[in-house]
Amino acid sequence: MKLTGNTILITGGGSGIGKALAKAFYAQGNKIIIAGRQVDKLKDMAAAFPGMAYLSIDMTSLESITAFSKQLIAEHPDLNVIINNAGIMVPEQLLTAPAHLEIVQRTILTNFLGPIWLTSSLLPHLMQQHASTIVMVSSGLAFVPLVHTPTYSATKAALHSYSLSLREQLKRSSTEVIEIIPPYVQTELMGIQQANDPHAMPLEDFIDEVMLLMGKNDGTAEIVVERCKPLRYAADTHTFDQTFTALNQQHST
Ligand SMILES: NC(=O)c1ccc[n+]([C@@H]2O[C@H](COP(=O)([O-])OP(=O)(O)OC[C@H]3O[C@@H](n4cnc5c(N)ncnc54)[C@H](OP(=O)(O)O)[C@@H]3O)[C@@H](O)[C@H]2O)c1
Repeated sequence: MKLTGNTILITGGGSGIGKALAKAFYAQGNKIIIAGRQVDKLKDMAAAFPGMAYLSIDMTSLESITAFSKQLIAEHPDLNVIINNAGIMVPEQLLTAPAHLEIVQRTILTNFLGPIWLTSSLLPHLMQQHASTIVMVSSGLAFVPLVHTPTYSATKAALHSYSLSLREQLKRSSTEVIEIIPPYVQTELMGIQQANDPHAMPLEDFIDEVMLLMGKNDGTAEIVVERCKPLRYAADTHTFDQTFTALNQQHST
């Protein structure tokens, strides 16, 4: 996709990766709409960037997504890019079943069903645009799961799979599908300690590399920063078993 002159929706744009992407795309001359549940956060963020808009959405609710999509298209008819970034990552102790089932349901709704509902609801509009892009934010854990977050890892693997099929079905249309595959990044996804964890990639470095890769506009379907390559290509390089062991040992220490 071209990096300027778009009208871009970013879900989860009030914090972390979504917020940083919103700032980066805004700086490149795009119209930005950020969305999430915490309206005060979105309002503060938008106030700091003239022209930035915000809307409330709950990705776990089809009703919310349907109403949101109608309002979004009515207020921003030039919308041509959506970034499905909102997500949650919650540890699960499967041995305490069925206590963890609430987490399972919330995670699947937010990370997988929500992006499918939102994409489906906006697709007819996007396909009418001269050129449009659907961005899915998955994770390196789509390719090598973290055992402490089984459903999270599974939703990201599912989102990767869905993106492949969506891209193929849209290949003769003017809508492209790009998957951003982040490594472990310094945000508050799993709490404040993650934002300061020296093992996680600094958010600014991650966004700089993502923008550089996206700016190449060379038809690349997946945005994979150097740090994420060991996870993304573990199966291709026949290093899955070692990577799986190392990732999960590292996490449990
Ligand atoms: N940070 C990492 O290490 C990492 C690695 C791989 C992939 N990712 C992915 O990157 C994306 C962004 O995560 P992040 O690291 O930036 O964490 P974050 O700061 O916690 O951002 C998550 C965002 O999702 C929104 N959200 C959560 N539930 C929602 C719901 N039901 N409806 C609408 N919005 C909802 C939150 O906004 P509200 O609370 O306002 O709703 C928040 O802005 C996620 O998809 C995550 O899985 C992150």
